Amino acid sequence: MNAPIRFASNAALAARRDAATPRGVGVMAPFFAARAENSELWDVEGRRYIDFAGGIAVLNTGHRHPKVMAAVAAQLERFTHTCYQVVPYDSYVELAEKLNALVPGAFPKKSMFVSTGAEAVENAVKIARAATGRTGVIAFSGAFHGRTMMGMALTGKVAPYKMGFGPFPAEIYHAAFPTHGTDPTRALASVAGLFKTDIDPKRVAAIIIEPVQGEGGFHIAPREFVLGLRKLCDEHGILLVADEIQSGFGRTGKWFAFEHFGVAADLVTTAKSLAGGFPLAAVTGRADIMDAAPPGGLGGTYAGSPIGLTAALAVIEVMQEEGLLERSVALGERLMSRLNALRARFPQIAEVRGLGSMVAAEFNRPGTDEPDAAFAKRVQTLALERGLILLTCGTGANVIRFLYPLTIGDTLFAEGLQIFEGAVIDAAKTSGLA
Ligand SMILES: Cc1ncc(COP(=O)(O)O)c(C=O)c1O
Repeated sequence: MNAPIRFASNAALAARRDAATPRGVGVMAPFFAARAENSELWDVEGRRYIDFAGGIAVLNTGHRHPKVMAAVAAQLERFTHTCYQVVPYDSYVELAEKLNALVPGAFPKKSMFVSTGAEAVENAVKIARAATGRTGVIAFSGAFHGRTMMGMALTGKVAPYKMGFGPFPAEIYHAAFPTHGTDPTRALASVAGLFKTDIDPKRVAAIIIEPVQGEGGFHIAPREFVLGLRKLCDEHGILLVADEIQSGFGRTGKWFAFEHFGVAADLVTTAKSLAGGFPLAAVTGRADIMDAAPPGGLGGTYAGSPIGLTAALAVIEVMQEEGLLERSVALGERLMSRLNALRARFPQIAEVRGLGSMVAAEFNRPGTDEPDAAFAKRVQTLALERGLILLTCGTGANVIRFLYPLTIGDTLFAEGLQIFEGAVIDAAKTSGLA
């Protein structure tokens, strides 16, 4: 590996950042990236970190996977932009074919591409409205669907995502997402309750759900709940939209988390790990529904960038060649058993949950249901000081989520877990409950 490139000190860059960029773009790490490789990242002062954040679930195939880099380098030699709607290119069609085959559902499908997850969500809502002629959309408490106006409207957490940014698009309703063992029947009743209190089901175009909530705290939707939603949608002619932006592309041990439920959504949004570190997002869905919008109604200047598409085609090959779905299951099992062993020792760990490698530990004040965001933050900070990048999540900011690359080697994975464990032990010491 080459010697680290020295740009400036972290402190000097932070001072320039504070003067030049708005505080609304919150930044977690007190250091600046210089380079990264698979599961490791080096800062501008040459310090090395193990990356269990993956740029928020983007790097299931790791930083700069050689195969992805080679595909992108080859594309850079051909062309970087034509705007697909002006002069099309084959990679758009090829990735659409691949996603249509991979996304759950034994029916004809079509796919379209944009650049970010929020844009994919926006387009899923546009398509659902065009296809049904209805306007209403139901989302869930704790959901996160992005920072655009519709993304914010659908997001089920006010601070910091919605504060001061309204008004939001109309006709958006929220039902309670079942967490912490909530009875799925009660949760379904909360959705059906909206039809009595808020909106006629005949006016609902779509119900959008994260099969495993991401920002909301890695809560896994109970199977009966998803089956019930599918039934409710079918009864009322409502489209079911699966937001697989964080849960997709192998994170849960399957290509898509919905595969765990054995039912298909009508529309599926993907982004993040889809293109291994390059900006790309997609909406895939039933062909007739996807065709509802008129020509010109969908797209964008950079929508379906050839760079992102080429990267995504390489990502799919890497996932297949390297058996990353199996690896996701194996790593997740290893992590879950380590976390459960820690939970037996530390009452601050209230719950450990996971599906494949979409795993999280939730921290509460011992003996209570009160979220302990300070404890989660302390673990995160101690880990970072010791060279491990972790992310928190959860409506109470009291959950640590694990988003390591599925390409991580065993030794580095074990080193990361060791740092995490040490951080929990020391955080417990300072909270006086060790
Ligand atoms: C489930 C989900 N949907 C949508 C988004 C928004 O994606 P983006 O940040 O690429 O706009 C995210 C981002 O975290 C997400 O986790």
